[in-house]
Amino acid sequence: MPGCYIGLMSGTSMDAVDAVLAETRGDDFIVRAARSVALPEPVALALRRLATPGGAFTAEGDALDELGRLDREVAELFAGAAIGLLAAAGVDAGEVRAIGSHGQTLRHRPRAARPFTLQVGDPNVIAAATGIAVVADFRRRDVALGGQGAPLVPAFHAAVFAAPLEYRAVLNLGGIANLTLLPPGGPVTGFDTGPGNTLMDAWARRHLGRPYDAGGAWAASGRTDTPLLQQLLAHPYLALAPPKSTGPEEFSLAWLEGVLSRVGALEPAAVQATLCEFTARTVVTALGDHPPARLVACGGGAHNRALLDCIAALLPGTRVETSSAHDIDPDYVEATAFAWLAARTLAGLPGNLPAVTGARREAVLGAVWPA
Ligand SMILES: Nc1ncnc2c1ncn2[C@@H]1O[C@H](COP(=O)(O)OP(=O)(O)OP(=O)(O)O)[C@@H](O)[C@H]1O
Ligand SMILES: [Mg+2]
Repeated sequence: MPGCYIGLMSGTSMDAVDAVLAETRGDDFIVRAARSVALPEPVALALRRLATPGGAFTAEGDALDELGRLDREVAELFAGAAIGLLAAAGVDAGEVRAIGSHGQTLRHRPRAARPFTLQVGDPNVIAAATGIAVVADFRRRDVALGGQGAPLVPAFHAAVFAAPLEYRAVLNLGGIANLTLLPPGGPVTGFDTGPGNTLMDAWARRHLGRPYDAGGAWAASGRTDTPLLQQLLAHPYLALAPPKSTGPEEFSLAWLEGVLSRVGALEPAAVQATLCEFTARTVVTALGDHPPARLVACGGGAHNRALLDCIAALLPGTRVETSSAHDIDPDYVEATAFAWLAARTLAGLPGNLPAVTGARREAVLGAVWPA
């Protein structure tokens, strides 16, 4: 369906709302403008607190009050990001067919007895504030069909990065890392490999007082601790066969602390170095015995030099690069995917890949909140 679409994404890192304005031109999906709006620190703190299992509430209300308040506040931030993007691009809201809004995930339990995934960022508020139709709630139809509801980006990765004669894989390094495997001729598969930045971010927040380890410099300054690495690699998620997806619920600071208490005292930089190596190994192991010729990294973790170097060292036969090599800013691949998914939904086309999510069938994802 021709026209302009906006994609809005805030991932489990809870760092920023990424907003992309993209346009369909024939089979191409061209990014016209993009911007990132940092989540205000109090909002990120409140989201992280609510998203942490067993989190305690001492403020004005309980978890339901907090959920309702944040559903609204996240939506206001998402709407603001879309409005700011249009203003910067000089594009009128009337030119945009729809906003694809992922929302902010607070809990993801695809393997619970009653599986669910929970995102906030009320689409009603976004539609009312922008005057643009909103497509949202992308994941729950797939979960209703027995799928993981994640990852949803592989179909877009295939549309953009697949090559007819080369085996490629796309690695999104968000809070959680996910791989899309693109063998020539298909089939497209993909799954969450485990942590992306979430553990390294949490450790940097605690010991550096910073939101992340810029460039992975701190990790690069430490030495990997082999006993800790072995313990981390014993996480049961890593042994599961796909389809599978995970979240910071499973790869949490609480889990890391439990492992550290068994290993004994270590320098914080050695822990960071080990977390970096751990993340790299989970990705490389997930690629199996026949790694791709090319690994295209995207997401904020693509800026983590230490992590990419570590992955490249473990994959001597693979060219490791970022999506910049394909003229796509690594910071905006996922937001662009949600603009693309919104266009699919409006066109009545499926967005999920059952081979990826494990859903019983393809489905048109999400719902439409009219302008
Ligand atoms: N210069 C940098 N050096 C190292 N890491 C960086 C840098 N810039 C960003 N990052 C990492 O990227 C993270 C944000 O990445 P991103 O927005 O892709 O993740 P996300 O919000 O979890 O997204 P998603 O879940 O959609 O993949 C930051 O939390 C940080 O860990
Ligand atoms: Mg982000």
